[in-house]
Amino acid sequence: MDLMDKIISLCKRRGFVYPGSEIYGGLANTWDYGPLGVELKNNIKKQWWKNFVQKRAEIYGLDGGILLNPRIWEASGHVQGFIDILVECLKCHKRYRLDHLKGAKKCPECGGSLSEPRRFVPMFKTFIGPVEDTASVAFLRPETAQAIFVNFKNIIDSFHPRLPFGIAQTGKAFRNEITLGNFIFRSLEFEQMEIEYFIREENWESHFEEWKKTMEDWVIDLGVKKENLSWRRHADDELSHYSKRTEDLEFNFPFGVRELYGLAYRTDFDLKNHAKFSGQELSYQDPETKETYIPHVIEPSMGVERTFLAVLLDAYEEESGEKGIRTVLKLNPKIAPFKVAVFPLVANKEELVAKAREIYETLMVEFPVAFDDRGNIGKRYFSQDEIGTPWCVTVDYQTLEDNTVTVRDRDTTKQERVAVDKLLERFLNYLK
Ligand code: GAP
Repeated sequence: MDLMDKIISLCKRRGFVYPGSEIYGGLANTWDYGPLGVELKNNIKKQWWKNFVQKRAEIYGLDGGILLNPRIWEASGHVQGFIDILVECLKCHKRYRLDHLKGAKKCPECGGSLSEPRRFVPMFKTFIGPVEDTASVAFLRPETAQAIFVNFKNIIDSFHPRLPFGIAQTGKAFRNEITLGNFIFRSLEFEQMEIEYFIREENWESHFEEWKKTMEDWVIDLGVKKENLSWRRHADDELSHYSKRTEDLEFNFPFGVRELYGLAYRTDFDLKNHAKFSGQELSYQDPETKETYIPHVIEPSMGVERTFLAVLLDAYEEESGEKGIRTVLKLNPKIAPFKVAVFPLVANKEELVAKAREIYETLMVEFPVAFDDRGNIGKRYFSQDEIGTPWCVTVDYQTLEDNTVTVRDRDTTKQERVAVDKLLERFLNYLK
Protein backbone atom coordinates (compact mmCIF):
# COMPACT_ATOMS: atom_id res chain seq x y z
CA MET A 1 0.00 0.00 0.00
CA ASP A 2 1.37 3.44 -0.78
CA LEU A 3 1.18 6.26 1.74
CA MET A 4 -1.97 7.76 0.24
CA ASP A 5 -3.84 4.43 0.48
CA LYS A 6 -2.67 4.03 4.06
CA ILE A 7 -3.97 7.49 4.99
CA ILE A 8 -7.32 6.91 3.25
CA SER A 9 -7.71 3.57 4.99
CA LEU A 10 -6.76 4.99 8.41
CA CYS A 11 -9.15 7.93 7.92
CA LYS A 12 -12.06 5.61 7.17
CA ARG A 13 -11.26 2.98 9.79
CA ARG A 14 -10.64 5.38 12.66
CA GLY A 15 -13.39 7.90 11.93
CA PHE A 16 -11.57 10.84 10.35
CA VAL A 17 -13.09 10.88 6.84
CA TYR A 18 -15.89 8.82 5.28
CA PRO A 19 -16.92 8.78 1.61
CA GLY A 20 -19.94 11.07 1.14
CA SER A 21 -23.41 9.41 0.90
CA GLU A 22 -21.70 6.04 1.27
CA ILE A 23 -24.75 3.81 1.86
CA TYR A 24 -26.20 5.08 -1.44
CA GLY A 25 -23.07 4.12 -3.35
CA GLY A 26 -21.42 7.47 -2.70
CA LEU A 27 -21.37 10.83 -4.46
CA ALA A 28 -18.08 11.37 -6.27
CA ASN A 29 -15.81 14.02 -4.83
CA THR A 30 -17.76 14.54 -1.61
CA TRP A 31 -16.60 13.52 1.85
CA ASP A 32 -18.01 13.48 5.36
CA TYR A 33 -15.82 14.11 8.39
CA GLY A 34 -16.22 11.70 11.30
CA PRO A 35 -15.74 12.39 15.03
CA LEU A 36 -11.93 12.60 14.80
CA GLY A 37 -11.91 14.41 11.45
CA VAL A 38 -14.20 17.14 12.67
CA GLU A 39 -11.93 17.70 15.69
CA LEU A 40 -8.83 17.92 13.48
CA LYS A 41 -10.55 20.26 11.02
CA ASN A 42 -11.90 22.49 13.78
CA ASN A 43 -8.47 22.60 15.43
CA ILE A 44 -6.84 23.70 12.15
CA LYS A 45 -9.43 26.46 11.74
CA LYS A 46 -9.09 27.45 15.41
CA GLN A 47 -5.31 27.76 15.12
CA TRP A 48 -5.68 29.80 11.93
CA TRP A 49 -8.20 32.18 13.53
CA LYS A 50 -6.05 32.59 16.60
CA ASN A 51 -2.93 33.25 14.57
CA PHE A 52 -4.37 35.54 11.89
CA VAL A 53 -7.27 37.28 13.61
CA GLN A 54 -6.99 37.18 17.40
CA LYS A 55 -3.25 37.80 17.51
CA ARG A 56 -3.25 40.53 14.85
CA ALA A 57 -4.85 43.83 15.77
CA GLU A 58 -5.04 44.96 12.13
CA ILE A 59 -7.01 41.92 10.88
CA TYR A 60 -10.80 41.86 11.33
CA GLY A 61 -12.94 38.71 11.30
CA LEU A 62 -16.03 38.22 9.17
CA ASP A 63 -18.59 35.50 8.50
CA GLY A 64 -20.30 36.40 5.25
CA GLY A 65 -23.01 34.49 3.39
CA ILE A 66 -22.63 31.51 1.09
CA LEU A 67 -25.44 32.95 -1.03
CA LEU A 68 -24.72 36.45 -2.28
CA ASN A 69 -26.48 38.80 -4.66
CA PRO A 70 -25.80 37.31 -8.14
CA ARG A 71 -24.60 40.71 -9.39
CA ILE A 72 -21.57 40.19 -7.14
CA TRP A 73 -20.37 37.37 -9.39
CA GLU A 74 -20.73 39.60 -12.44
CA ALA A 75 -18.76 42.39 -10.75
CA SER A 76 -16.08 39.98 -9.53
CA GLY A 77 -15.61 38.68 -13.09
CA HIS A 78 -16.52 35.10 -12.11
CA VAL A 79 -19.47 34.81 -14.50
CA GLN A 80 -17.26 35.78 -17.46
CA GLY A 81 -13.75 34.90 -16.30
CA PHE A 82 -13.95 31.98 -13.85
CA ILE A 83 -13.99 29.26 -16.47
CA ASP A 84 -12.42 25.88 -16.95
CA ILE A 85 -11.77 24.46 -20.39
CA LEU A 86 -13.24 21.00 -20.59
CA VAL A 87 -12.47 18.18 -23.03
CA GLU A 88 -14.17 14.80 -23.14
CA CYS A 89 -12.81 11.46 -24.35
CA LEU A 90 -14.98 10.42 -27.29
CA LYS A 91 -14.44 6.73 -26.41
CA CYS A 92 -14.71 6.34 -22.61
CA HIS A 93 -16.42 9.73 -22.04
CA LYS A 94 -14.09 10.65 -19.20
CA ARG A 95 -13.85 14.44 -18.80
CA TYR A 96 -10.69 16.42 -18.20
CA ARG A 97 -9.68 19.97 -17.53
CA LEU A 98 -7.51 20.91 -20.50
CA ASP A 99 -4.80 22.46 -18.28
CA HIS A 100 -4.56 19.18 -16.32
CA LEU A 101 -3.73 17.22 -19.50
CA LYS A 102 -0.40 19.05 -19.87
CA GLY A 103 -0.47 18.95 -23.69
CA ALA A 104 -1.61 15.29 -24.07
CA LYS A 105 -3.64 14.81 -27.27
CA LYS A 106 -5.25 11.46 -26.36
CA CYS A 107 -7.25 10.27 -23.34
CA PRO A 108 -4.74 9.28 -20.61
CA GLU A 109 -7.15 6.55 -19.48
CA CYS A 110 -8.01 4.69 -22.72
CA GLY A 111 -6.05 6.45 -25.50
CA GLY A 112 -9.29 7.60 -27.22
CA SER A 113 -9.58 10.84 -29.19
CA LEU A 114 -10.56 13.99 -27.31
CA SER A 115 -13.44 16.33 -28.10
CA GLU A 116 -13.04 20.00 -29.02
CA PRO A 117 -12.43 22.12 -25.88
CA ARG A 118 -15.56 23.65 -24.31
CA ARG A 119 -15.86 26.53 -21.83
CA PHE A 120 -17.37 25.58 -18.51
CA VAL A 121 -18.29 27.79 -15.52
CA PRO A 122 -17.51 25.75 -12.38
CA MET A 123 -19.95 27.70 -10.17
CA PHE A 124 -22.92 25.78 -8.77
CA LYS A 125 -26.18 27.38 -9.80
CA THR A 126 -29.30 27.39 -7.66
CA PHE A 127 -32.60 29.29 -7.53
CA ILE A 128 -33.98 31.55 -4.83
CA GLY A 129 -37.74 31.29 -4.37
CA PRO A 130 -40.26 28.89 -5.85
CA VAL A 131 -39.84 29.92 -9.51
CA GLU A 132 -36.85 28.59 -11.38
CA ASP A 133 -36.30 31.39 -13.90
CA THR A 134 -33.32 33.55 -14.83
CA ALA A 135 -34.42 36.26 -12.41
CA SER A 136 -34.06 33.90 -9.45
CA VAL A 137 -30.64 32.38 -10.29
CA ALA A 138 -28.07 32.43 -7.50
CA PHE A 139 -24.66 30.82 -7.14
CA LEU A 140 -23.03 28.98 -4.27
CA ARG A 141 -19.87 30.98 -3.64
CA PRO A 142 -16.75 29.53 -5.32
CA GLU A 143 -14.49 31.54 -2.97
CA THR A 144 -15.09 33.23 0.38
CA ALA A 145 -13.28 36.38 -0.78
CA GLN A 146 -16.24 38.23 -2.33
CA ALA A 147 -18.20 38.55 0.92
CA ILE A 148 -15.11 40.32 2.25
CA PHE A 149 -15.00 42.85 -0.59
CA VAL A 150 -18.69 43.64 -0.31
CA ASN A 151 -18.29 44.27 3.44
CA PHE A 152 -15.22 46.50 3.02
CA LYS A 153 -17.31 49.66 3.52
CA ASN A 154 -19.05 48.22 6.60
CA ILE A 155 -15.73 47.45 8.28
CA ILE A 156 -14.37 50.91 7.43
CA ASP A 157 -17.51 52.57 8.84
CA SER A 158 -17.59 50.48 12.04
CA PHE A 159 -13.89 50.27 12.88
CA HIS A 160 -12.06 53.08 11.01
CA PRO A 161 -8.99 50.91 10.38
CA ARG A 162 -5.76 52.34 8.98
CA LEU A 163 -3.92 50.78 6.07
CA PRO A 164 -2.56 48.20 5.93
CA PHE A 165 -5.42 46.16 7.39
CA GLY A 166 -7.03 42.83 6.59
CA ILE A 167 -10.42 41.15 6.70
CA ALA A 168 -10.39 37.40 7.33
CA GLN A 169 -13.00 34.75 6.82
CA THR A 170 -13.23 30.98 6.99
CA GLY A 171 -16.05 29.00 5.43
CA LYS A 172 -17.42 26.74 2.76
CA ALA A 173 -16.83 27.25 -0.94
CA PHE A 174 -18.24 25.18 -3.78
CA ARG A 175 -16.86 24.32 -7.21
CA ASN A 176 -18.29 22.05 -9.85
CA GLU A 177 -14.89 20.43 -10.41
CA ILE A 178 -14.35 18.36 -13.55
CA THR A 179 -11.29 16.47 -12.42
CA LEU A 180 -12.06 14.00 -9.69
CA GLY A 181 -9.94 11.98 -7.35
CA ASN A 182 -7.02 12.23 -4.94
CA PHE A 183 -9.19 11.86 -1.86
CA ILE A 184 -10.03 15.21 -0.21
CA PHE A 185 -7.47 17.15 -2.29
CA ARG A 186 -10.06 18.36 -4.80
CA SER A 187 -13.67 18.21 -3.70
CA LEU A 188 -16.91 19.83 -4.79
CA GLU A 189 -17.44 21.39 -1.38
CA PHE A 190 -14.51 22.56 0.72
CA GLU A 191 -13.50 25.18 3.25
CA GLN A 192 -11.27 28.17 2.71
CA MET A 193 -9.41 30.36 5.19
CA GLU A 194 -8.89 33.65 3.38
CA ILE A 195 -7.61 37.14 4.11
CA GLU A 196 -7.96 40.20 1.91
CA TYR A 197 -5.11 42.43 3.03
CA PHE A 198 -5.65 46.05 1.97
CA ILE A 199 -2.51 48.01 1.15
CA ARG A 200 -1.15 51.00 -0.76
CA GLU A 201 -0.35 50.06 -4.34
CA GLU A 202 3.32 51.01 -4.13
CA ASN A 203 3.90 48.58 -1.23
CA TRP A 204 2.49 45.45 -2.85
CA GLU A 205 5.77 43.65 -3.45
CA SER A 206 7.04 43.92 0.12
CA HIS A 207 3.65 42.78 1.50
CA PHE A 208 3.60 39.92 -0.98
CA GLU A 209 7.03 38.72 0.23
CA GLU A 210 6.01 39.09 3.88
CA TRP A 211 2.87 37.01 3.33
CA LYS A 212 4.89 34.26 1.65
CA LYS A 213 6.94 33.89 4.79
CA THR A 214 3.91 34.18 7.10
CA MET A 215 1.96 31.46 5.27
CA GLU A 216 4.93 29.14 5.19
CA ASP A 217 5.76 29.68 8.89
CA TRP A 218 2.16 29.00 9.86
CA VAL A 219 1.86 25.67 8.10
CA ILE A 220 5.29 24.53 9.29
CA ASP A 221 4.28 25.36 12.87
CA LEU A 222 1.21 23.19 12.33
CA GLY A 223 3.45 20.21 11.51
CA VAL A 224 4.06 20.26 7.75
CA LYS A 225 7.71 19.57 6.87
CA LYS A 226 9.62 22.45 5.31
CA GLU A 227 11.33 20.13 2.83
CA ASN A 228 7.92 19.21 1.35
CA LEU A 229 7.03 22.84 0.57
CA SER A 230 8.00 25.00 -2.41
CA TRP A 231 6.73 28.15 -4.14
CA ARG A 232 5.70 28.26 -7.79
CA ARG A 233 4.93 31.46 -9.65
CA HIS A 234 2.02 31.38 -12.13
CA ALA A 235 2.90 32.07 -15.75
CA ASP A 236 1.07 35.05 -17.27
CA ASP A 237 -1.36 32.85 -19.22
CA GLU A 238 -2.23 30.93 -16.06
CA LEU A 239 -3.15 33.92 -13.87
CA SER A 240 -6.75 34.23 -12.65
CA HIS A 241 -8.71 37.06 -14.24
CA TYR A 242 -8.20 39.26 -11.15
CA SER A 243 -4.52 38.68 -10.51
CA LYS A 244 -1.32 40.47 -11.49
CA ARG A 245 0.89 38.00 -9.61
CA THR A 246 0.03 34.64 -8.06
CA GLU A 247 2.32 32.19 -6.34
CA ASP A 248 1.24 28.78 -5.11
CA LEU A 249 2.70 27.29 -1.97
CA GLU A 250 3.01 23.71 -3.20
CA PHE A 251 3.25 20.53 -1.17
CA ASN A 252 4.88 17.28 -2.15
CA PHE A 253 1.75 15.06 -2.12
CA PRO A 254 2.22 11.32 -2.92
CA PHE A 255 0.41 11.96 -6.25
CA GLY A 256 2.74 14.83 -7.20
CA VAL A 257 3.76 18.34 -6.18
CA ARG A 258 0.46 20.28 -6.08
CA GLU A 259 -1.04 23.52 -4.81
CA LEU A 260 -1.55 23.66 -1.08
CA TYR A 261 -2.30 27.41 -0.83
CA GLY A 262 -2.46 30.40 -3.14
CA LEU A 263 -1.14 33.92 -2.67
CA ALA A 264 -2.44 36.53 -5.13
CA TYR A 265 -1.92 40.22 -5.77
CA ARG A 266 -5.49 41.14 -6.79
CA THR A 267 -4.64 44.83 -7.33
CA ASP A 268 -7.75 47.05 -6.90
CA PHE A 269 -9.68 44.84 -9.35
CA ASP A 270 -12.42 43.71 -6.96
CA LEU A 271 -13.12 46.92 -5.03
CA LYS A 272 -13.11 48.96 -8.25
CA ASN A 273 -15.58 46.62 -9.94
CA HIS A 274 -17.85 46.43 -6.91
CA ALA A 275 -17.84 50.23 -6.71
CA LYS A 276 -18.81 50.37 -10.39
CA PHE A 277 -21.53 47.71 -10.23
CA SER A 278 -23.04 48.78 -6.89
CA GLY A 279 -22.69 52.53 -7.38
CA GLN A 280 -21.21 52.79 -3.87
CA GLU A 281 -18.04 54.62 -2.84
CA LEU A 282 -15.50 51.93 -1.90
CA SER A 283 -12.44 54.03 -1.25
CA TYR A 284 -10.29 54.69 1.75
CA GLN A 285 -9.36 58.07 3.14
CA ASP A 286 -6.01 58.47 4.85
CA PRO A 287 -6.89 60.14 8.19
CA GLU A 288 -3.75 62.31 8.16
CA THR A 289 -3.20 63.33 4.55
CA LYS A 290 -6.90 63.08 3.61
CA GLU A 291 -5.79 61.40 0.38
CA THR A 292 -8.64 59.22 -0.93
CA TYR A 293 -8.05 56.11 -3.04
CA ILE A 294 -9.08 52.51 -3.62
CA PRO A 295 -6.63 50.24 -1.79
CA HIS A 296 -4.88 47.34 -3.49
CA VAL A 297 -5.11 43.81 -2.12
CA ILE A 298 -2.84 40.89 -1.28
CA GLU A 299 -4.80 37.69 -0.79
CA PRO A 300 -3.45 34.69 1.15
CA SER A 301 -5.90 31.86 0.50
CA MET A 302 -5.63 28.54 2.32
CA GLY A 303 -7.72 25.38 2.02
CA VAL A 304 -8.74 23.53 5.18
CA GLU A 305 -8.92 20.07 3.53
CA ARG A 306 -5.53 20.39 1.85
CA THR A 307 -4.03 21.44 5.19
CA PHE A 308 -5.74 18.45 6.80
CA LEU A 309 -4.26 16.09 4.20
CA ALA A 310 -0.76 17.60 4.32
CA VAL A 311 -0.55 17.42 8.14
CA LEU A 312 -1.74 13.80 8.13
CA LEU A 313 0.79 12.81 5.44
CA ASP A 314 3.68 14.45 7.26
CA ALA A 315 2.63 13.15 10.67
CA TYR A 316 2.31 9.51 9.55
CA GLU A 317 5.11 7.17 10.62
CA GLU A 318 5.57 3.43 10.95
CA GLU A 319 8.13 2.23 13.49
CA SER A 320 9.14 -1.39 13.95
CA GLY A 321 9.86 -2.55 17.48
CA GLU A 322 9.70 -5.63 19.70
CA LYS A 323 5.89 -5.51 19.71
CA GLY A 324 5.54 -5.26 15.93
CA ILE A 325 4.95 -2.27 13.73
CA ARG A 326 3.69 0.83 15.49
CA THR A 327 1.71 3.25 13.30
CA VAL A 328 1.85 6.71 14.77
CA LEU A 329 0.47 10.09 13.76
CA LYS A 330 2.97 12.57 15.17
CA LEU A 331 0.46 15.41 15.05
CA ASN A 332 1.16 18.73 16.70
CA PRO A 333 -0.72 18.34 20.05
CA LYS A 334 -2.55 21.61 19.34
CA ILE A 335 -4.43 19.98 16.45
CA ALA A 336 -4.58 16.35 17.64
CA PRO A 337 -8.26 15.22 17.92
CA PHE A 338 -7.80 13.86 21.46
CA LYS A 339 -5.16 15.45 23.68
CA VAL A 340 -5.11 12.66 26.26
CA ALA A 341 -6.40 9.08 26.63
CA VAL A 342 -7.17 7.62 30.06
CA PHE A 343 -7.05 3.89 30.80
CA PRO A 344 -7.64 1.73 33.88
CA LEU A 345 -4.89 -0.94 33.84
CA VAL A 346 -7.55 -3.67 33.86
CA ALA A 347 -11.27 -3.38 33.16
CA ASN A 348 -12.48 -5.77 35.86
CA LYS A 349 -11.13 -3.96 38.91
CA GLU A 350 -13.83 -1.56 40.01
CA GLU A 351 -11.60 0.86 41.96
CA LEU A 352 -9.25 1.29 38.99
CA VAL A 353 -12.13 1.93 36.56
CA ALA A 354 -13.78 4.41 38.95
CA LYS A 355 -10.52 6.34 39.44
CA ALA A 356 -9.83 6.39 35.67
CA ARG A 357 -13.37 7.68 35.03
CA GLU A 358 -12.88 10.41 37.63
CA ILE A 359 -9.66 11.58 35.92
CA TYR A 360 -11.28 11.34 32.49
CA GLU A 361 -14.23 13.48 33.59
CA THR A 362 -11.94 16.11 35.14
CA LEU A 363 -9.76 16.46 32.05
CA MET A 364 -12.59 16.42 29.48
CA VAL A 365 -13.89 19.75 30.79
CA GLU A 366 -10.76 21.38 29.33
CA PHE A 367 -10.07 19.42 26.11
CA PRO A 368 -11.14 16.27 24.23
CA VAL A 369 -10.13 13.09 26.08
CA ALA A 370 -10.51 9.41 25.12
CA PHE A 371 -11.35 6.60 27.54
CA ASP A 372 -10.44 3.01 26.75
CA ASP A 373 -10.64 -0.14 28.85
CA ARG A 374 -10.65 -2.76 26.06
CA GLY A 375 -7.86 -5.26 25.41
CA ASN A 376 -4.41 -4.99 26.91
CA ILE A 377 -2.52 -1.77 27.61
CA GLY A 378 -0.08 -2.30 24.71
CA LYS A 379 -2.94 -2.48 22.23
CA ARG A 380 -4.56 0.60 23.70
CA TYR A 381 -1.30 2.57 23.34
CA PHE A 382 -1.01 1.47 19.71
CA SER A 383 -4.61 2.42 19.07
CA GLN A 384 -4.08 5.95 20.44
CA ASP A 385 -0.75 6.34 18.57
CA GLU A 386 -2.54 5.66 15.30
CA ILE A 387 -4.91 8.59 15.83
CA GLY A 388 -2.23 10.93 17.15
CA THR A 389 -3.18 11.20 20.86
CA PRO A 390 -0.10 12.84 22.42
CA TRP A 391 -0.41 11.44 25.97
CA CYS A 392 -1.86 8.32 27.61
CA VAL A 393 -2.64 8.18 31.33
CA THR A 394 -2.83 4.77 33.00
CA VAL A 395 -4.42 4.20 36.39
CA ASP A 396 -2.80 1.17 38.08
CA TYR A 397 -2.59 -0.43 41.52
CA GLN A 398 -0.01 2.10 42.70
CA THR A 399 -2.54 4.87 41.94
CA LEU A 400 -4.77 3.52 44.69
CA GLU A 401 -1.85 3.82 47.15
CA ASP A 402 -0.19 7.13 46.28
CA ASN A 403 -2.58 8.92 43.85
CA THR A 404 -0.06 8.92 40.99
CA VAL A 405 -0.52 7.63 37.44
CA THR A 406 1.78 6.86 34.52
CA VAL A 407 1.87 9.36 31.67
CA ARG A 408 3.17 7.91 28.42
CA ASP A 409 4.45 10.18 25.67
CA ARG A 410 3.33 9.26 22.11
CA ASP A 411 6.54 10.29 20.35
CA THR A 412 9.17 8.91 22.74
CA THR A 413 6.95 6.14 24.24
CA LYS A 414 8.63 7.02 27.57
CA GLN A 415 6.55 6.82 30.73
CA GLU A 416 6.77 8.76 33.97
CA ARG A 417 4.79 8.89 37.18
CA VAL A 418 2.80 12.02 37.81
CA ALA A 419 0.59 13.03 40.74
CA VAL A 420 -3.08 13.05 39.76
CA ASP A 421 -3.46 16.58 41.22
CA LYS A 422 -0.81 17.87 38.81
CA LEU A 423 -2.17 16.27 35.62
CA LEU A 424 -4.44 19.03 34.34
CA GLU A 425 -1.93 21.80 34.92
CA ARG A 426 0.76 19.76 33.21
CA PHE A 427 -1.29 19.06 30.06
CA LEU A 428 -2.51 22.64 29.83
CA ASN A 429 1.13 23.78 29.99
CA TYR A 430 2.14 21.35 27.24
CA LEU A 431 -0.69 22.62 25.06
CA LYS A 432 0.26 26.27 25.39
N1 GAP B 1 -9.88 33.44 -3.46
C1 GAP B 1 -8.83 32.84 -4.19
C2 GAP B 1 -9.04 31.44 -4.50
O1 GAP B 1 -10.11 30.91 -4.29
P1 GAP B 1 -7.83 29.27 -5.36
O2 GAP B 1 -6.37 29.02 -5.62
O3 GAP B 1 -8.78 28.92 -6.43
O4 GAP B 1 -7.94 30.82 -4.99
C3 GAP B 1 -7.59 28.82 -2.82
O5 GAP B 1 -8.26 28.53 -4.03
C4 GAP B 1 -7.35 27.55 -2.02
O6 GAP B 1 -8.57 26.84 -1.82
C5 GAP B 1 -6.43 26.55 -2.73
O7 GAP B 1 -5.08 26.89 -2.55
C6 GAP B 1 -6.81 25.25 -2.04
O8 GAP B 1 -6.19 25.17 -0.78
C7 GAP B 1 -8.32 25.44 -1.81
N2 GAP B 1 -9.11 24.79 -2.89
C8 GAP B 1 -9.44 25.32 -4.08
N3 GAP B 1 -10.21 24.46 -4.79
C9 GAP B 1 -10.38 23.37 -4.01
C10 GAP B 1 -11.11 22.14 -4.16
N4 GAP B 1 -11.85 21.88 -5.24
N5 GAP B 1 -11.05 21.22 -3.16
C11 GAP B 1 -10.34 21.47 -2.03
N6 GAP B 1 -9.65 22.63 -1.83
C12 GAP B 1 -9.67 23.57 -2.80
